[in-house]
Amino acid sequence: MIEIVPMELKHIEGVLEVEETTFSIPWTKEDFIREVTQNAMAVYYVAVDGETVVGYAGMWHVINEGHVTNVAVLHDYRRQGIGDGFMKKLTEVALEREMIGITLEVRMNNRAAQGLYHKFGFRAEGIRKNYYADTKEDAVIMWRYFPFYEDYDPEIHG
Ligand SMILES: CC(C)(COP(=O)(O)OP(=O)(O)OC[C@H]1O[C@@H](n2cnc3c(N)ncnc32)[C@H](O)[C@@H]1OP(=O)(O)O)[C@@H](O)C(=O)NCCC(=O)NCCS
Repeated sequence: MIEIVPMELKHIEGVLEVEETTFSIPWTKEDFIREVTQNAMAVYYVAVDGETVVGYAGMWHVINEGHVTNVAVLHDYRRQGIGDGFMKKLTEVALEREMIGITLEVRMNNRAAQGLYHKFGFRAEGIRKNYYADTKEDAVIMWRYFPFYEDYDPEIHG
C-alpha cells in the first residue's frame, strides 16, 4: 500500500533517486537536507511503498501563500493517483494554515503536470519567458486561490 507521509532525513536517499531519474537539473542531497532540517517555510511529503520512496512533493509557506517547489513520482508508479494524493495533501495543509492560495511554475510543454494542476483548480495566470536554464522553455505560472477557504472541504472539492 502506498502512503503519503512527511519527508524525513531517512527518506532523502530515496528522494534523490526520484529526483535524479525525473529532472534534467536535479536538486542535490544538500538541497533536500536543508529543506528538511533548516527551512522553516518548507512543507515536504513523500509517497512510500513499504520502505521505498516512490515520489515526493514540496511547498514553501511564504507569508500567506503556498509555493509548490516540486512534485515528482517514479516513472513506474505514475498514473496511479499518487500525484493526486500529493496535491490533496498540499491543499489540506494550505487550508489548515489559512493560506490565500497556492502557486507554482510548470514547463510550457509539461502536459501531465498541467493536467494534474488543472484537475486541482489551478489556472494559468502568467508566463515567465525562457525560465528553464536547460532548454530555455517558458514557465507557465499557475495559481489556485482559496477565496472561500473557510467553507472549503477537500473531501468535497478535491
Ligand atoms: C506530473 C506527475 C507528478 C503526475 O503524477 P501521477 O502520480 O502520475 O499523477 P496521477 O496518477 O495522480 O494523475 C492525476 C491527474 O494528473 C493528470 N495527469 C497525470 N499524468 C498525465 C499524463 N501523462 N497526461 C495527461 N494528464 C496527466 C490527470 O489529470 C490525472 O487525473 P486522472 O487520472 O483523473 O486523469 C508525474 O507525471 C511526474 O512525476 N512527472 C515528472 C515530474 C514533473 O513533471 N513534475 C511537475 C513539475 S512542475
